[in-house]
Amino acid sequence: MGTFAGFIYRQLIVKPKPLAANVRLDGKTALVTGANAGLGFEAARELSSHGLARLILAVRTVSKGEEARDMILAESPGVTVEVWALDHESFVSIDEFGRRASELDRLDIVILNAGVKNLDYVETKTGHESHLQVNHLGTALVSVHMLSPLSRTAKLLGSPTRLTIVSSENHFWANFKELQAVNTRAQLDSYRDCFRGLDRINIEEYSTSKLLNVLWMCELSGRAGKMGLDIVINSVNPGLCASSLHCTDPQATRAVRLIAYTSAQGGYCLTDAVVLHGEARGAYLSEQSVKDPSTFVLSGAGRGAQKKLWKETVDLLKTEAPVVEILQSLTSV
Ligand SMILES: NC(=O)c1ccc[n+]([C@@H]2O[C@H](COP(=O)([O-])OP(=O)(O)OC[C@H]3O[C@@H](n4cnc5c(N)ncnc54)[C@H](OP(=O)(O)O)[C@@H]3O)[C@@H](O)[C@H]2O)c1
Repeated sequence: MGTFAGFIYRQLIVKPKPLAANVRLDGKTALVTGANAGLGFEAARELSSHGLARLILAVRTVSKGEEARDMILAESPGVTVEVWALDHESFVSIDEFGRRASELDRLDIVILNAGVKNLDYVETKTGHESHLQVNHLGTALVSVHMLSPLSRTAKLLGSPTRLTIVSSENHFWANFKELQAVNTRAQLDSYRDCFRGLDRINIEEYSTSKLLNVLWMCELSGRAGKMGLDIVINSVNPGLCASSLHCTDPQATRAVRLIAYTSAQGGYCLTDAVVLHGEARGAYLSEQSVKDPSTFVLSGAGRGAQKKLWKETVDLLKTEAPVVEILQSLTSV
């Protein structure tokens, strides 16, 4: 895993498959972020076609979510589809979203898929760099909010519920030299001054954010397990897929034309990760199988990075985001 030749081989030879027709999700409630487009939309659409009872499309722009809802209902009229606003660039929006989710009578499946790729430095409304904010901090805070409704549902049903964070094979390719900094998170945020206009903010920033997704997932899964929360938490690499994610990246756009999966095939990888492989907690899935993440993630340095990232992220969230009660318990286990 992680070599360029291996990546090309997998894109050309391995073809993601949809869930088997006999997989049933009757009675279940699923929530997908970034669900109006690309892989998130395709995953939401596929879950709906397997008997899902209720689907929550978490979207930045509600009108886009309503269009997605109408398309899903045209194919799967039996599912109740709701469109909820969620903006990863606003801790207040995430808090409102999380509190709404905490009132759900049932939540079985969560796919945290919303993400961006920018080649230039983009500062978000929170003042943080866009990959750090949307891909890591936003995803991390939403993940924490999801734990209470997921664990309540697991208790009620006597079987685990599921949360998948969408990462990428790019996590193998991150240099992550910011790990050496006293505060890694602050270092990732600092490029606004010294690297604007230079080539630091290119694919490296995106790849690093996808590595942070894997490290956060590993730490969250371990801590949720220690708290006795019966939730299968994993991360998934969907492979290179045709979607609007690559619209600002000419190199990726060329590769997409030659070797990309369709968004639907990428969506199959998301649904596979969140529905199947329930025995593997804290796992990384790629090609619809449990695989090793990068050697860095598995190394002692990687485990150290995981702890450092957890602490720095929690410290930031405690300062900048409204309080989430469960975060205190997660921090003390
Ligand atoms: N496509 C690939 O080749 C590939 C490969 C590996 C991993 N991934 C991962 O797969 C996930 C989905 O990517 P995609 O290819 O489907 O891209 P996409 O088509 O661009 O979809 C991204 C989704 O994220 C949403 N989003 C962006 N910023 C947001 C914010 N601030 N708050 C809430 N939602 C926000 C977008 O909403 P708007 O429509 O409103 O912008 C959209 O729904 C990402 O996490 C990406 O890193 C993709």
